[in-house]
Amino acid sequence: IIYCNTLMVEIITIDGPASVGKSTLAKRISSHYKSPLLNSGRLYRAIALKMKIKKIRINDRTEIIKIARLLSDNDMRSNNLFNSGIEKIASQISAREYLRDELKVYQREFPKKYAKGKRFAIIEGRDIGTEIFPEAKYKIFMWADVKIRAKRRHDQIIKKGEKARLKQIYNEIIARDNKDLNRKIAPLKPAANSVLLDTSYLDIEQSLNKIKN
Ligand code: DC
Repeated sequence: IIYCNTLMVEIITIDGPASVGKSTLAKRISSHYKSPLLNSGRLYRAIALKMKIKKIRINDRTEIIKIARLLSDNDMRSNNLFNSGIEKIASQISAREYLRDELKVYQREFPKKYAKGKRFAIIEGRDIGTEIFPEAKYKIFMWADVKIRAKRRHDQIIKKGEKARLKQIYNEIIARDNKDLNRKIAPLKPAANSVLLDTSYLDIEQSLNKIKN
């Protein structure tokens, strides 16, 4: 429980691998409970986008910290955060401990800043239940079979009218899983007291119902 001017806000953390449907479910939970949502992946993506625009090198710690400190809410709303170039930089910088420490501050401030008078604050990512809010009351760890995640991502891209190859997406997801699960700093793993939500055979409505229950 986080106290926001004496009002109590409970934290819901949602962690899980790429393309498991975290942000879709998080959005539904957020609108169902009229509670604010932070997609923490957007933090890493927004920094990656700024690095790309400003041509900052991947090892330029000073500049990367500077960008992180100046990050605005607007930066995280950009439509340009979701492409594979940005994803690649985001993935690389997300393994840097100094950056994770910097962003920890932002993430921990989120409920105090945005959830006043709300029942919940929902934060979605990879290490939210383990590193960012280890004291959270509700922790969800989402999972789905790799083949099913690949198919979902594939269909999503096709629906946007873009081209996609299932096999390539499948391989990319496996590569990202390996990176996220095996990195030394804040690896993706279920918090000891999290609830496992396997969505392999659940649609979004069924997933939301499970969470409500
Ligand atoms: O969830 P996403 O795909 O938008 O995340 C973008 C990148 O940031 C991805 O490489 C994983 C990383 N990330 C992370 O390391 N920790 C988080 N809490 C959220 C995202």
